[in-house]
Amino acid sequence: MTSQPEDLNILMARHKAGYALPREFYTSRAMFDQDIARVWNRNWIWVGHESQIPEPGDYFLFDYGPESLIIVRDREGAVRAHLNVCRHRGSRVCTEGAGKARVFVCPYHAWTYELTGELRAGREMGPDFDPAKWGLLPAQVILFQGMILVCPSDEAPPLADALDALAPLTAPFGFEDLKVVHEAHYPVPANWKLAVENYLECYHCAPAHQEYARSHTLKSPQQMAALLPAMQERSVAAGLPTTELNMSGADAIAPGADVYYRRYPLFDGYQTGSRSGVPMAPLLGSLQDFDGGATDVSLGILNYFLVYSDHLVGYRFVPRDVQETDIQVVWMVRKDAEEGRDYTADELTWLWHVTSQDDERIIRHNQAGVNSNFFQPGPLAEMEWAINDFYEFYKKMNGVP
Ligand code: FES
Ligand SMILES: [Fe+2]
Repeated sequence: MTSQPEDLNILMARHKAGYALPREFYTSRAMFDQDIARVWNRNWIWVGHESQIPEPGDYFLFDYGPESLIIVRDREGAVRAHLNVCRHRGSRVCTEGAGKARVFVCPYHAWTYELTGELRAGREMGPDFDPAKWGLLPAQVILFQGMILVCPSDEAPPLADALDALAPLTAPFGFEDLKVVHEAHYPVPANWKLAVENYLECYHCAPAHQEYARSHTLKSPQQMAALLPAMQERSVAAGLPTTELNMSGADAIAPGADVYYRRYPLFDGYQTGSRSGVPMAPLLGSLQDFDGGATDVSLGILNYFLVYSDHLVGYRFVPRDVQETDIQVVWMVRKDAEEGRDYTADELTWLWHVTSQDDERIIRHNQAGVNSNFFQPGPLAEMEWAINDFYEFYKKMNGVP
């Protein structure tokens, strides 16, 4: 577990397309540090939805690896993100996970920051001290139809054009009018890349996900293709575009500027991802009807969404340590829906709760096997094409041509 980054770069350059990555990528501390610095700190991360911070001063923290970000609505109503690192001697400035603040006061020596991140005052710093130079470091923010994406790097992937292309496709779902019903975290003792890879393929869906496989055709490309035309007719009638948008992998404008949109059919009888197929919440946005489909959306390379006609499920795979990852699942419905009357959280979360528990188990076993000295990267199946794209992105982020 002591490989140096240089060795890892050599390994990466040698990685054979169409094969899994060598074990060092999932076991090495140096690689993990590099992943945070080169991938997570330089890409767009979906941290939440505007509805979570409706008023000035509302904030929440988003943490990954050693990093912490404060996401806050300032007095003018703008959403901002700051690095949660005091400019004095580095303490975390904000230690509550969420709340309402007038200012942020560092708990160590009480340097006091405005919601905009500017330093209001540094106690007893003398006449030559210029607070203007010592504001919290900013992270970049993109608001996409209410979804908050942040990137701590100045050189964030140029996502704007891809989001412009995506916007008309997602518009009917009314993302800006969603609210969070529930957020669950499934910690798994595995490297974050194994969790992402697991999300990116449905080769495992038939053997590993009994409940999911009953309603979702993604496990079988043939069945999906057979049911697609009928669903697309229903989609059009429901007010949904049938266009597929793939600006990801080799088709991305730049590494990390990926977006993806595809609606696919559920099995007949399923109007949404519920236990019996019946609707669970009011139709999203401007939809006129259930079309029996579900849409895969990705924003950037780290953020994935599954959009049913009546709810949305968001997924993140947040690195904590080399072999510690938080699978974070967020369920959303339209904001005017009322718990008890229009939906129940238990019913709504059932499928992706059981499915995420399955995923936790298979990812855990995957890591355990990869840790073996006898593990050798095997060939990927056709159904694992998206993992290839992920590796290509990953190599580019690490400077491998
Ligand atoms: S470390 Fe924050 S005020 Fe000293
Ligand atoms: Fe899965």
